Amino acid sequence: SKLEMFVDKLPDMPRVRGFDVVNGVPRPKSLDIGMYEIRWKFHRDVPPTPVFAFGTSQAAATVPGPTIEALHGVGTCVTWQNYLPSKHILPWDPTIPTAMPRSRMGIPTVVHLHGGIDEPESDGHSYSWFTAGFRDRGPKWTQAKYHYHNGQHPGNLWYHDHAMGLTRVNLLAGLIGAYIIRHPEVESPLGLPAGDEFDSPLVVFDRSFRVDGSIYMNPTGNNPSIHPQWQPEYFGDAIIVNGKAWPYMVVRRRKYRFRIINASNARFFKFFFTNGLEIVHVAADSAYLGAPVATNETLVAPSEIVDVVVDFAKSKSDHAILANDAAYPYPTGDPVNEANSKVMKFVIKKDPEVDPSRVPEKLVEYPAADSSAASRTRYIAMYEYTSDADEPTHLYLNGRPFEDPATETPREGTTEVWRVINLTEDNHPLHIHLGLFRVVDQTELLDPKEEFKDCMMKSNDAEKCHVGEFARGQKLAVSPHEKGWKNVYKMTPGYVTTIVVRFAYIHSNSSYPFDATAEPGYVYHCHILDHEDNVMMRPLKFIK
Ligand code: C2O
Ligand code: CU
Repeated sequence: SKLEMFVDKLPDMPRVRGFDVVNGVPRPKSLDIGMYEIRWKFHRDVPPTPVFAFGTSQAAATVPGPTIEALHGVGTCVTWQNYLPSKHILPWDPTIPTAMPRSRMGIPTVVHLHGGIDEPESDGHSYSWFTAGFRDRGPKWTQAKYHYHNGQHPGNLWYHDHAMGLTRVNLLAGLIGAYIIRHPEVESPLGLPAGDEFDSPLVVFDRSFRVDGSIYMNPTGNNPSIHPQWQPEYFGDAIIVNGKAWPYMVVRRRKYRFRIINASNARFFKFFFTNGLEIVHVAADSAYLGAPVATNETLVAPSEIVDVVVDFAKSKSDHAILANDAAYPYPTGDPVNEANSKVMKFVIKKDPEVDPSRVPEKLVEYPAADSSAASRTRYIAMYEYTSDADEPTHLYLNGRPFEDPATETPREGTTEVWRVINLTEDNHPLHIHLGLFRVVDQTELLDPKEEFKDCMMKSNDAEKCHVGEFARGQKLAVSPHEKGWKNVYKMTPGYVTTIVVRFAYIHSNSSYPFDATAEPGYVYHCHILDHEDNVMMRPLKFIK
């Protein structure tokens, strides 16, 4: 039975302030946020779904979790508490490297603030997991109370689970939420749409449900004799925004700001409005753009964030459907169908409005990436390995498992050039913890690239395999709205993508108020969660 679209109202998630105000002065705040098993109503006609949800209490837990609103320069401490039962609501796979399946001790979780520039002890390393009551702890667990500095530029972050080998199921179960760092002195003069009514996150993901309401996930995997549960990509039939399937929102004839987070495991979205409304980008991932960029569509990979302004006063119709046109897997998979080509509906009020907000000509200018200042160039290669039946068995970065000692060991505070060689058929969103980067270009590998690939699969030595002779094909332009500082980017298959990564603040030359070289260090990985778990992830270890 098909679910009717646009019958549930778009929720705004609860907002939790990450600071106190004492006598008009903002002060650091400590929060307690729990992970609970609750039931969540995804659609009018879907029975309540068992989920894992973040909340300041069980009664307040939501999917996605509360939006944490932090203030630039004012720290927020969070003690993430695991109140989950011992049995997972989804099938996980013991044949991939995973946080210990000592299930009587509970479900391992650990929270990463995606986009945060914070000490390694608070970064949510995959081996810093813990179970309910901290009864069991991963080999790299160091502390229960996480400290977020909020010392970085204003922008959009999100928090989500990062437990080894369980990230895909823990996020599918619902462990996600938005986190905003605001900086009023910088942002108020911009005049962008502001206030809860006109400025809110849209957390978008796909899910499938059984008739009893439970989340459906292929329980046998694609390759059951090798990985009984793991599948290379999870895709769901229903598109969920802020916890409702294909919701609707009644809007006034004026501008709105939407901070759109793709929280899917593997689905890319190419968003556009069916009535042609413009999408005006003001920020990407965690950082503002220098100037707004208007587009008709925007391609958003898992974990990418587009921060956009939409002016409904320009609509000629009384409604606008936010639609999707990205093949899955991207870019060579199935085309969208009736269900996953629709995202949500905006019902636009008739009366004209006085709109005090604006999109200024200039936003926030940050220094350009300086590749001449780069201390070194690294090659990062992406590999997919397949079984005799041509089913993916696992994926690696640089041909190494996660457990191998760190090979990416930048000096704290420096800039590096990374050339990412995608030797697979799929686009992989590469995310780097702590670092921010600018995408320089993407260059196609020329034939006979199979020869290059064979050489790389054997040696993982780009120079020895003469990468320079192959990486000379056509160049893909970087879209203007993706030329700012990013923390995740889409690595085109068959291309070498060059990025300049800065392991320091982008808005000042100040060094970190913490030791980035401390244990347990950081990670970088593909943000297709099914890839990250098996194991397209490597340690990132800083040195002094
Ligand atoms: Cu959004 Cu390492 O994660
Ligand atoms: Cu991937």
